[in-house]
Amino acid sequence: MLSKKLETIMNEQIGKEAFSSNLYLAMASWAETQGYEGIANWFYAQAEEEHLHMLKFIRFINEKGGKAILPAIEKPESVFHDVKFLFTEALKHEQFISNSINEIMHVAVEEKDFASQNWLQWFIFEQREEEASVQRILDKLNILGAHNMYLFDRDIMSLRAPSAPAAE
Ligand code: FEO
Repeated sequence: MLSKKLETIMNEQIGKEAFSSNLYLAMASWAETQGYEGIANWFYAQAEEEHLHMLKFIRFINEKGGKAILPAIEKPESVFHDVKFLFTEALKHEQFISNSINEIMHVAVEEKDFASQNWLQWFIFEQREEEASVQRILDKLNILGAHNMYLFDRDIMSLRAPSAPAAE
């Protein structure tokens, strides 16, 4: 059984994961309209992963006797200056999400909710992978400079990081 506090904070996370998915869709759409097919595909795939994260929280809350409630989602930005700005914003967002997951874990630890801690470990791993994946891309962009975006757009097809192992 989830405590009320965990249920509330996990419900808030549903909204954050839904926003993440929409944010990455907005980024994908921007990239697509700029002619960056590879970058667009990368963000479309990220958006799907975020949607799955949201689903995981919905199902876990309900399974543990809570009630998942879908919130209204804030409108994401739709205009991004350039590719480096795009990935810098993505990294900042992932760091925000990592902190949020850490906060949930902190509550689960305080409450000695070992089942939730065990389940949340998947997200801790996933966030580490996602931050590292975006950081690797930013490192490559720094090497390239502001030009050569054609080659970068082609190469990003092979830069996808492995996801965390499957979990319920
Ligand atoms: Fe589900 Fe990358 O936050």
